[in-house]
Amino acid sequence: MSTTPDQARPKSSAFGRYFFVFLLGAALGAIGLVAALNSWNARKDHFPEGVMYVQEWHLKQLGVKATANHCNATDIIPHLKGLRTLSDDLERAFPDLSDDERFVKQASGMRATLDGALSAPPINCEGVNAVAAKIGESCKGCHQDFR
Ligand code: HEC
Repeated sequence: MSTTPDQARPKSSAFGRYFFVFLLGAALGAIGLVAALNSWNARKDHFPEGVMYVQEWHLKQLGVKATANHCNATDIIPHLKGLRTLSDDLERAFPDLSDDERFVKQASGMRATLDGALSAPPINCEGVNAVAAKIGESCKGCHQDFR
């Protein structure tokens, strides 16, 4: 009597089948989680962090220019202006905090620092580094209380 192909094939174990279902479930769960996080992120308001990241970029540029010894007014003033304009948006970016006296004081302090820097722009790289450090202090001042 010949063996049928069915009997010849090794039987898959129950463990193997359950493990496959478990892996499938884990994979589908992971896909679902990524989709949920993506849709949450898409709905989130990116304006506040946008203001912060653009500020960070401008501030970093001051350091980059100073390191490269590019400290003419035309290298530096655009970044000071960018920071000054963005500092007007601080209260608009954080409407929940705009009633907080300390927050407004920090925001005004940053605007004052930048007004000062724009009315007497640094004339050399040493000055650029000094002004960047001063602006960095005003970032830190607000972050200590509110970030
Ligand atoms: C008047 C307050 C204030 C000032 C001034 C300020 N920040 Fe912020 N910053 C915040 C707050 C509040 C958060 C937290 C935002 C959040 O988590 O929703 C923050 C967060 C950030 C973040 C992280 C953003 C994120 O969501 O991941 C960066 C980067 C940042 N600030 C850079 C800067 C830089 C650079 C400066 C100065 C040029 C600066 N900030 C000045 C209030 C301020």
